[in-house]
Amino acid sequence: MTRITVKVDGTNYTDEVEPRTLLVHYLREQVGKTGTVVGCDTSNCGACTVHLDGVSVKSCNVLAVQVDGGEVTTIEGLAQNGELHPMQQAFHECHALQCGYCTPGMIMQSIDLLNNNPHPSEQEIRNGLEGNLCRCTGYHNIVKAVQQAAGGAK
Ligand code: FES
Ligand code: FES
Repeated sequence: MTRITVKVDGTNYTDEVEPRTLLVHYLREQVGKTGTVVGCDTSNCGACTVHLDGVSVKSCNVLAVQVDGGEVTTIEGLAQNGELHPMQQAFHECHALQCGYCTPGMIMQSIDLLNNNPHPSEQEIRNGLEGNLCRCTGYHNIVKAVQQAAGGAK
């Protein structure tokens, strides 16, 4: 076992993990952040997307030991003082979810997308989300939500 210290959603955790433990399993099973979900385990679907030191990563594609000393933000760390993050609010208002399984990863990836490109075109949004699959195929409203969060369609 290896000891790691990680800040997750603003709280420091020190835990023993096996070297093979994936970040997504560490987050769900040891930290209790079950808002981050597993859709494939083969880095295809993006459902497990979180931010590591401010950048989106697929947490099934990162080992827990690799985040030692780092800072992780999950979907559960976005709302502040009872207020949804603007991207969460936009997904809500645009009905950008159906079953909701892809939603945590979509939102985390969408925030990263706007961090890198605050005013993306529709095509840039579609390109930026290409690593996130929605099995309900709700892409149209997801793109609208990102456009709304960015301050309007372009
Ligand atoms: Fe990580 Fe699908 S569970 S990409
Ligand atoms: Fe069901 Fe995207 S809303 S997978």
